[in-house]
Amino acid sequence: MCGIVGYIGNDSAKNVIINGLRGLEYRGYDSAGIALGSRGRILVRKESGALENLEKKITKSEFDGKIGIGHTRWATHGSPTRENAHPHLSADGKIAVVHNGIIENYDELKPWLIENHHIEYRSETDTETIAHLIGVYYQGDLESAVKKAVLRMRGTYAFAAIAADEPNKIVAVRKDAPLIAGIGENCNYLASDIPALLKYTRDIYLIENDEMVILTKDEIKIYDADGTRVKREIMRVTWDADAAEKGGYEHFMMKEMCEQPDAIRKTLLPRIDNKGRIKLDGIKFEKDDLDVLDHIYIVACGTAYHAGLQGKSLFEKYVKIPTEVDLASEFRYRKPLVDNRTLFICISQSGETQDTLAALREAKKQGARILSICNAMGSSIARESDDVLYTWAGPEIAVASTKAYTTQLICLHLISMYMGRVRGTLPKVEFERIIEELKTLPEKAEETLKTENVMRELAEKFFIKEQIFYIGRGTDVGTAYEGSLKLKEISYINSFAIAAGELKHGTIALIRKQTLFFALATQDFLYEKMHSNIEEIKARNAHTVGITKDGNKRLAKICDEVVYIPKCSDEVASILAVIPLQLLAYHIAKLRKRDIDKPRNLAKSVTVE
Ligand code: M6R
Repeated sequence: MCGIVGYIGNDSAKNVIINGLRGLEYRGYDSAGIALGSRGRILVRKESGALENLEKKITKSEFDGKIGIGHTRWATHGSPTRENAHPHLSADGKIAVVHNGIIENYDELKPWLIENHHIEYRSETDTETIAHLIGVYYQGDLESAVKKAVLRMRGTYAFAAIAADEPNKIVAVRKDAPLIAGIGENCNYLASDIPALLKYTRDIYLIENDEMVILTKDEIKIYDADGTRVKREIMRVTWDADAAEKGGYEHFMMKEMCEQPDAIRKTLLPRIDNKGRIKLDGIKFEKDDLDVLDHIYIVACGTAYHAGLQGKSLFEKYVKIPTEVDLASEFRYRKPLVDNRTLFICISQSGETQDTLAALREAKKQGARILSICNAMGSSIARESDDVLYTWAGPEIAVASTKAYTTQLICLHLISMYMGRVRGTLPKVEFERIIEELKTLPEKAEETLKTENVMRELAEKFFIKEQIFYIGRGTDVGTAYEGSLKLKEISYINSFAIAAGELKHGTIALIRKQTLFFALATQDFLYEKMHSNIEEIKARNAHTVGITKDGNKRLAKICDEVVYIPKCSDEVASILAVIPLQLLAYHIAKLRKRDIDKPRNLAKSVTVE
């Protein structure tokens, strides 16, 4: 989604801003732009397409400003053209604005600006309205003009503004879109996300909703909605700088798939103490807190929703509380039955997904306790939750989620098992058995990554297919959905995932000779049923690739090919079984010459509804 960067200091703002925008490329964008305050003017350059296009436009020496703002845009209002790219300027060209989010009432403000102030719009964007509003209110004091403009605006935004006549400050405001300020030496920074600043600083302030931040080169001042100065703790970012780079891999996605053993280790092991008990940093549920619950909702989008599907089985099995999984985009529109007897669990890698955040707020309003599983520290979802369990997966840059998913599954295991013990619904012996299983996962994930050669060969065989099916039973259904989504989003092949038992209720009509099926059969207790489903599709001459645990000899007799994951218990199998499917999607996409890390039409974090 859109990214914002700002810089004020003694160095060339142009370089800092371009580097910052590069750090935000993973958010997805289709145009980029920069505005620099230089010699009493504001110089703007913007281009559609890759950042390189913009860079080519700004090599000239006139771009010598020491203050500036930049933006990567993912089109929402208006197509991804140069005109619609940010920054946008006020009518006299003396105010420049970059913005992430949507101004919901821009269609009321626009006619008002045109009629009363004779403004001529130059773009189709809602953002241009912010620049004009500030321009209309500006009388030599940017801060007060921004305040007046904000009073007129409705919607979600993080925006930053500079004024030609005040080249000593950047003013920014946050409402429901991410914004941070970075502290430098004789300079300061602004960004929508941490990776933009990693090259320059690790000391940051998280800007809260409805706050205004004013950056000069020597100071960062934060004010709340009432205009009161806020004292904010500095947050020290401990991410490894290399983590935000590709580290020698051809694509972020491959790097992130390969990081899974380590991400699982980091997410899991520190939460198991030397007596084998689960300790969830900062999260405490007493038996009474759990006994009062009559319902658990797990709400998320996309891959995180697929993790939620696995979570449902875990919570019902270990905690014995009815658990529903819902898509965040549907949840709040169907009047869910939520009250103070509800535990609302939301899962989000970015912690900024607008639908998930909105569902969280709805559940909170109705009295639910909110527990989130997030990867992004200090993200909106994390901050608005009562309890947060972080997936210590490190930054996930590729749009296709991989290590975030497997670590989300780890968190779901940890939380459900912890609650099962507190509530007394998960027997100790059973608990200890699964803990031992979980502890073997980092090594087994390492082992599973070795299926890469097999998956590459399968990709070479099948990359020309126009349709691929995924089937499974039990937790394998969630894995089938996730494998199918991975394939669709990065290879653009049409694929379909379905619970195997459901095939004969309609979808089986699609099977013809050589229709390709990936059949997940990792659940021993459901094996016989799955075997029969595979027989059904074989009888219709489908081509089948089975995925099962080492040692299953029966599957090889009915499938054309079989891929093996290490032996493990049924409960944890889904954490491993998804890995070959991620690898398959990757290699098919590569053979199809797709833009693997930035698939078309997709953004890493979806901050619009
Ligand atoms: O940041 P979130 O986990 O909230 O994102 C939710 C989905 O947009 C996300 O999981 C998406 O489906 C994946 N990037 C697909 O790989």
